[in-house]
Amino acid sequence: MNTRFTTLIFALFLLGNISYSQKKNSFNIKKQFEYCAAQASKTLAVIPDDGTSPRTVPNGSKEWKFVDYKDWTSGFWPGELWYLYEATGDKKWEKEADKFSQFLKPLSVSKANDHDLGFQIFNSFGNGYRLTKNPAYKDIILKSADTLATLFNPKVGTILSWPHHKYEGHNTIIDNMMNLELLFWASKSGGNKKLYDIAVKHAETTMNNHFRPDYSSYHVVIYDYETGKKIKGMTAQGYSDDSMWARGQAWSIYGFTMVYRETKDSKFLDFAHKVARVYLDRLTTEDLIPYWDFNAPGIPNEPRDASAAAIVSSALIELSSYTKDTKLKNEYLTKSKKMIVSLSDHYQSHNVNSAFLLHSTGHKPAGSEIDCSINYADYYYLEALLRLQKLKN
Ligand code: GLY
Repeated sequence: MNTRFTTLIFALFLLGNISYSQKKNSFNIKKQFEYCAAQASKTLAVIPDDGTSPRTVPNGSKEWKFVDYKDWTSGFWPGELWYLYEATGDKKWEKEADKFSQFLKPLSVSKANDHDLGFQIFNSFGNGYRLTKNPAYKDIILKSADTLATLFNPKVGTILSWPHHKYEGHNTIIDNMMNLELLFWASKSGGNKKLYDIAVKHAETTMNNHFRPDYSSYHVVIYDYETGKKIKGMTAQGYSDDSMWARGQAWSIYGFTMVYRETKDSKFLDFAHKVARVYLDRLTTEDLIPYWDFNAPGIPNEPRDASAAAIVSSALIELSSYTKDTKLKNEYLTKSKKMIVSLSDHYQSHNVNSAFLLHSTGHKPAGSEIDCSINYADYYYLEALLRLQKLKN
């Protein structure tokens, strides 16, 4: 090959690398916090004074849809406010976070409606207690953990996720892994020690029944109430019973990583690596933001799910901290950072609406919340930024 041509190719390669690393180095977490704080301030100004909180901004709209404390997403907005308090130290956020957390207090003294109590109470009061040590918050968290445990079916070995669903049997959804954190926390913070056993049993049963041979997750598993045997795996929010719903797989990566943190049992860590592996290996998008379902038939013309990317980016930072394999650790961190930078550079809502992120998909099969802004995408995005900042520090 002509030497001048080889030199030119090498120079171009070098330039490409330099501009990529400059871009990587120019990522400014503080600027992202400022953006989130500015967006949240705009949202605060439009929330009606009726005990509701913002859940979603539909595609094409600028207006939030608000929900009351019973909604499964009600903990994310107060959680975002607590994270803003953590990120900025500004007491304004503590005051707002407390106000919106208090709306959820009735959940701690009501009968369990479903498994989502963990999302609701741990993201609101859980973060609040972590940051303030307010004993009143602790009381609410402990009561809620006991309430969540009432849904545990010892014959099956899992928590019943959706008591109101008309499935023939005991249903458990992969999302439920996330809610075990509430039980773990309560068991080590003055609550009933049996909550730990329930959480571990739920994780073990899920590990044994909720995954296909390639470690992709079913969304829902139905068990026989009496014998506890698995009847079938299926979907509710994914494309099909056999497809890999992006957010479901994201919940499993985050969930098993968290269960390892709480138990230090290596079988959960091995499993977290496996469920992360199939997600990362099957991720085909250049920017690492997945389509809403990895098997959606219209790819590449399917909506993305920024919320799944936010959850996974946060989970990978934690998972990377548990591995001594340098290559794997680097892969997790590099990919997590790339996801966070993609979300920051190309998915922020700026002048479209006052959420942090665009392009999440809630429930495509139901035609609901498609390619829109959703509070849980914002919550995990902020969490990932905080984790990235802690890593840098
Ligand atoms: N937990 C419900 C969802 O992920 O949409």
